Amino acid sequence: MQPPVFDDSLRTGFAAIDEQHRLFLTMLAELGAHIEAGHHRQGVIDAFQGMRLYADGHFADEEVLMQQRGYPELEAHKGLHATFMAMAADLEARLGEGAGLLSVETLEFLGSWFIGHIRNEDQRFAAFARG
Ligand SMILES: [Fe+2]
Ligand SMILES: [Fe+2]
Repeated sequence: MQPPVFDDSLRTGFAAIDEQHRLFLTMLAELGAHIEAGHHRQGVIDAFQGMRLYADGHFADEEVLMQQRGYPELEAHKGLHATFMAMAADLEARLGEGAGLLSVETLEFLGSWFIGHIRNEDQRFAAFARG
Protein backbone atom coordinates (compact mmCIF):
# COMPACT_ATOMS: atom_id res chain seq x y z
CA MET A 1 0.00 0.00 0.00
CA GLN A 2 1.21 3.48 -0.80
CA PRO A 3 -0.12 5.28 2.24
CA PRO A 4 -1.28 8.83 1.76
CA VAL A 5 1.13 11.17 3.49
CA PHE A 6 0.75 14.69 4.74
CA ASP A 7 2.61 17.32 2.77
CA ASP A 8 2.67 21.10 2.55
CA SER A 9 0.02 21.17 -0.16
CA LEU A 10 -2.46 19.98 2.47
CA ARG A 11 -1.81 22.76 4.96
CA THR A 12 -4.68 24.91 6.18
CA GLY A 13 -2.55 27.33 8.17
CA PHE A 14 -4.23 26.26 11.42
CA ALA A 15 -1.37 24.47 13.17
CA ALA A 16 -3.56 22.29 15.38
CA ILE A 17 -5.72 21.19 12.44
CA ASP A 18 -2.71 20.47 10.26
CA GLU A 19 -1.18 18.37 13.02
CA GLN A 20 -4.42 16.41 13.42
CA HIS A 21 -4.58 15.79 9.66
CA ARG A 22 -0.97 14.62 9.67
CA LEU A 23 -1.52 12.31 12.62
CA PHE A 24 -4.72 10.87 11.18
CA LEU A 25 -2.94 9.93 7.95
CA THR A 26 -0.15 8.36 10.00
CA MET A 27 -2.71 6.28 11.90
CA LEU A 28 -4.25 5.16 8.64
CA ALA A 29 -0.84 4.10 7.32
CA GLU A 30 -0.15 2.18 10.53
CA LEU A 31 -3.48 0.44 10.24
CA GLY A 32 -2.59 -0.57 6.68
CA ALA A 33 0.72 -1.95 7.94
CA HIS A 34 -1.16 -3.99 10.58
CA ILE A 35 -3.31 -5.53 7.89
CA GLU A 36 -0.46 -6.20 5.48
CA ALA A 37 1.50 -7.84 8.29
CA GLY A 38 -1.48 -10.13 8.87
CA HIS A 39 -1.88 -9.08 12.48
CA HIS A 40 -4.52 -10.71 14.54
CA ARG A 41 -8.08 -9.56 14.41
CA GLN A 42 -8.20 -7.71 17.72
CA GLY A 43 -5.13 -5.65 16.84
CA VAL A 44 -6.75 -4.53 13.59
CA ILE A 45 -10.04 -3.76 15.32
CA ASP A 46 -8.27 -1.73 18.03
CA ALA A 47 -6.26 0.23 15.49
CA PHE A 48 -9.37 0.90 13.42
CA GLN A 49 -11.30 2.05 16.46
CA GLY A 50 -8.45 4.36 17.47
CA MET A 51 -8.46 5.88 13.98
CA ARG A 52 -12.23 6.34 14.03
CA LEU A 53 -12.23 7.99 17.46
CA TYR A 54 -9.40 10.25 16.40
CA ALA A 55 -11.33 11.32 13.30
CA ASP A 56 -14.39 11.99 15.45
CA GLY A 57 -12.42 14.26 17.78
CA HIS A 58 -10.78 16.03 14.87
CA PHE A 59 -14.10 16.73 13.17
CA ALA A 60 -15.52 18.10 16.42
CA ASP A 61 -12.53 20.42 16.88
CA GLU A 62 -12.84 21.63 13.30
CA GLU A 63 -16.55 22.30 13.66
CA VAL A 64 -15.96 24.37 16.81
CA LEU A 65 -13.38 26.42 14.95
CA MET A 66 -15.76 26.95 12.03
CA GLN A 67 -18.52 27.99 14.39
CA GLN A 68 -16.20 30.49 16.09
CA ARG A 69 -15.29 31.96 12.70
CA GLY A 70 -18.89 32.15 11.55
CA TYR A 71 -18.32 29.86 8.59
CA PRO A 72 -21.46 29.98 6.45
CA GLU A 73 -20.93 26.47 5.06
CA LEU A 74 -20.67 24.85 8.49
CA GLU A 75 -23.83 22.75 8.19
CA ALA A 76 -22.82 21.29 4.82
CA HIS A 77 -19.34 20.62 6.14
CA LYS A 78 -20.76 18.85 9.19
CA GLY A 79 -22.76 16.66 6.83
CA LEU A 80 -19.55 15.55 5.10
CA HIS A 81 -17.95 14.71 8.43
CA ALA A 82 -21.05 12.70 9.34
CA THR A 83 -20.78 10.80 6.05
CA PHE A 84 -17.23 9.78 6.87
CA MET A 85 -18.15 8.74 10.41
CA ALA A 86 -21.07 6.66 9.11
CA MET A 87 -18.74 4.86 6.69
CA ALA A 88 -16.23 4.24 9.48
CA ALA A 89 -18.89 3.02 11.92
CA ASP A 90 -20.26 0.65 9.29
CA LEU A 91 -16.81 -0.75 8.58
CA GLU A 92 -16.07 -1.15 12.27
CA ALA A 93 -19.32 -3.03 12.84
CA ARG A 94 -18.43 -5.41 10.00
CA LEU A 95 -14.95 -5.89 11.45
CA GLY A 96 -16.61 -7.60 14.38
CA GLU A 97 -17.60 -10.34 11.92
CA GLY A 98 -14.05 -10.78 10.67
CA ALA A 99 -11.03 -8.53 10.28
CA GLY A 100 -10.51 -9.93 6.78
CA LEU A 101 -13.37 -7.70 5.69
CA LEU A 102 -11.12 -4.67 6.05
CA SER A 103 -8.91 -4.51 3.01
CA VAL A 104 -6.02 -2.29 2.12
CA GLU A 105 -8.21 -1.02 -0.74
CA THR A 106 -10.81 0.10 1.76
CA LEU A 107 -8.17 1.99 3.71
CA GLU A 108 -6.97 3.60 0.51
CA PHE A 109 -10.51 4.70 -0.15
CA LEU A 110 -10.76 6.25 3.33
CA GLY A 111 -7.39 7.94 2.84
CA SER A 112 -8.41 9.33 -0.54
CA TRP A 113 -11.67 10.57 0.90
CA PHE A 114 -9.84 12.30 3.74
CA ILE A 115 -7.26 13.94 1.50
CA GLY A 116 -9.93 15.06 -0.95
CA HIS A 117 -11.87 16.51 1.97
CA ILE A 118 -8.83 18.47 3.17
CA ARG A 119 -8.16 19.84 -0.32
CA ASN A 120 -11.70 20.68 -1.27
CA GLU A 121 -13.40 21.50 2.00
CA ASP A 122 -10.99 22.18 4.86
CA GLN A 123 -8.83 24.40 2.70
CA ARG A 124 -11.90 26.26 1.49
CA PHE A 125 -12.74 27.04 5.09
CA ALA A 126 -9.12 28.11 5.63
CA ALA A 127 -9.37 30.49 2.68
CA PHE A 128 -12.59 31.90 4.14
CA ALA A 129 -10.95 32.33 7.56
CA ARG A 130 -7.97 34.12 6.01
CA GLY A 131 -10.16 36.31 3.86
FE1 LIG B 1 -10.15 18.12 8.66
FE1 LIG C 1 -13.46 18.92 7.61
